[in-house]
Amino acid sequence: QAQFVGLDVGGTTMKAAVVADDGRPLSKPVVMDTNPERGQDEGLATMCETIRRAVAAAGITLADVTAIGVATPGLGDIRKGLIIDPPNLKPWKNVPVRDHIARAFGKPTAYQNDANAAAYGEFWVGAGRGAKSMVLFTLGTGVGGGIIIDHKIIEGEHSHGGELGHLRIAMPDVGRQCGCGARGCLEAYASATNVVRRAREDMAWWRGPASRLRDYYTATDEDFTAKVIFDLAAAGDELALKVVDDTAYYLALGACAATATVDPEMIVFGGGMVAAGEWFRSKIEGYVKRFGLPYPTKSVKIAFASLGSDAGFIGTAGCARLLAHSK
Ligand code: BGC
Ligand code: NA
Ligand code: ZN
Repeated sequence: QAQFVGLDVGGTTMKAAVVADDGRPLSKPVVMDTNPERGQDEGLATMCETIRRAVAAAGITLADVTAIGVATPGLGDIRKGLIIDPPNLKPWKNVPVRDHIARAFGKPTAYQNDANAAAYGEFWVGAGRGAKSMVLFTLGTGVGGGIIIDHKIIEGEHSHGGELGHLRIAMPDVGRQCGCGARGCLEAYASATNVVRRAREDMAWWRGPASRLRDYYTATDEDFTAKVIFDLAAAGDELALKVVDDTAYYLALGACAATATVDPEMIVFGGGMVAAGEWFRSKIEGYVKRFGLPYPTKSVKIAFASLGSDAGFIGTAGCARLLAHSK
């Protein structure tokens, strides 16, 4: 039976596991620190080590591996398998990640954008299973996007297909500053980092009921997380609720843009924030109904991801599987 290694490289950690032909991981993922600041040679070495450990964790040998998949945050060149200049993997530049791994293991190797791969994972065996088309937004340090139409990932001409975190949802002259260098991107409003930044800003002018967010005013980024905000909101804290409600509104603007562009069967949101569950999902849905296309048709289905943080490596293994099947 064919088996695939999926390696999902993020700014903080990278994860890998062996995945069977039916999308089932053979073990828990092996997780290692990315440490991009230590340079790209060490980064490539860590990637290979993570893959080796994943193969060992699955109780198989390299000979049993059909193909390998690796995914990283953009900007990359998907066709060339190159990490180009990703804000979340500084200071890496022009890293030939696909060819390096292919040579190190002597296996066909697929390279994909991290959110494209996660979208494929959710489409293959997660929330989008059985759908004909799906758009995924991943909410983490960055906001990622992935578009699947007719079982195909939309990569685009310059690997920018599905860069939905950089959809402009505010005027570029006055919008919030994004890590990509531009202003007004969805990511500048709705990434986990920016949800916290907005909360700090809102605290400064908030005149509503006393908020427990005040306790976090001087907290470090480690203590003041998006999860804190969502938990306080769930407990009824009005300022926290405002921050979450604004987040839902911004995400809905992104979803409306995706709908007007490709009209997918469903839009899926993934990442830490969706742990908040149904009350948050229905807020997003409410705004999509309010601001989406005014046509009197059924509106797009809004769902939360079901693979959690496994979507990345499962989807990346899925990309390796697609590569193997195309040969
Ligand atoms: C990058 C995307 C990536 C996302 C999530 C964004 O800043 O532009 O390529 O998918 O972060 O990592
Ligand atoms: Na993408
Ligand atoms: Zn941007």
